[in-house]
Amino acid sequence: MAFTLRQAIRTDLPGIWSVRYAVTENTPTPGRISDEEVIEAIEQTGRGWVVEQQGGIVAFAIGNVQTGNIWALFVHPNAQGLGHGGRLHDEMLAWLRSVKLPLLWLTTGVTTRACGFYERKGWRKVGEPEGGEFRYEMNLEPEAAER
Ligand SMILES: CC(C)(COP(=O)(O)OP(=O)(O)OC[C@H]1O[C@@H](n2cnc3c(N)ncnc32)[C@H](O)[C@@H]1OP(=O)(O)O)[C@@H](O)C(=O)NCCC(=O)NCCS
Repeated sequence: MAFTLRQAIRTDLPGIWSVRYAVTENTPTPGRISDEEVIEAIEQTGRGWVVEQQGGIVAFAIGNVQTGNIWALFVHPNAQGLGHGGRLHDEMLAWLRSVKLPLLWLTTGVTTRACGFYERKGWRKVGEPEGGEFRYEMNLEPEAAER
C-alpha cells in the first residue's frame, strides 16, 4: 500500500495523538504530555517524522537531538508489521547520526514487542529494569561501531 514518510510539523498533532492513544503497549498516562511539549520536541529540542497512508497518519517518531533520547516511536496497531517502525527508526537515526551524537538511549516496557524490535535494530539493553522499563543504548562513535 502506498505511503509517505516525511518530517512532522505542528499541524500533524491530531494524527500523532490518535496513533499515540491507539497503541496497546507502552500506553500513555492520560494528560501527561501536552501539545506544547510535542511541538517543542519536533521544533526545538529535536525532530519528528510521520508516515501517512490513505490520507491519515499511521505512525510517528520523535528524537531529541540535545539528549540523544528516542522520545517516541509508535505505529498504529492496524499498521504494525508493515515496515513503518523500521523505516521511521532508520530515518531518525540517520539524522541523529548526522549531528554527531555519541550515544542514543531509550526506555521501553519490559514485556513489549518493542524490546525485540530494538534488539533486532542493534540496540543494547543496559542495567536492570526500572519502573517496569528497560533502558537501551546505541553507541554512535565510529570507533565503537568498528569494534
Ligand atoms: C515496536 C514498533 C514501533 C515496531 O514497528 P513495526 O512497524 O511494527 O515494525 P516493522 O514492521 O518496521 O519491523 C522492523 C523489523 O523489526 C522486526 N521486529 C518487529 N518486531 C519484532 C519483535 N518483537 N522481535 C523481533 N523482531 C521484531 C521485524 O521483523 C522487522 O525486521 P526486518 O527489518 O528484518 O524485516 C511497533 O510495534 C509499535 O508501535 N509498538 C507499540 C508501541 C511501542 O511499544 N512503541 C515503542 C515505544 S518505546
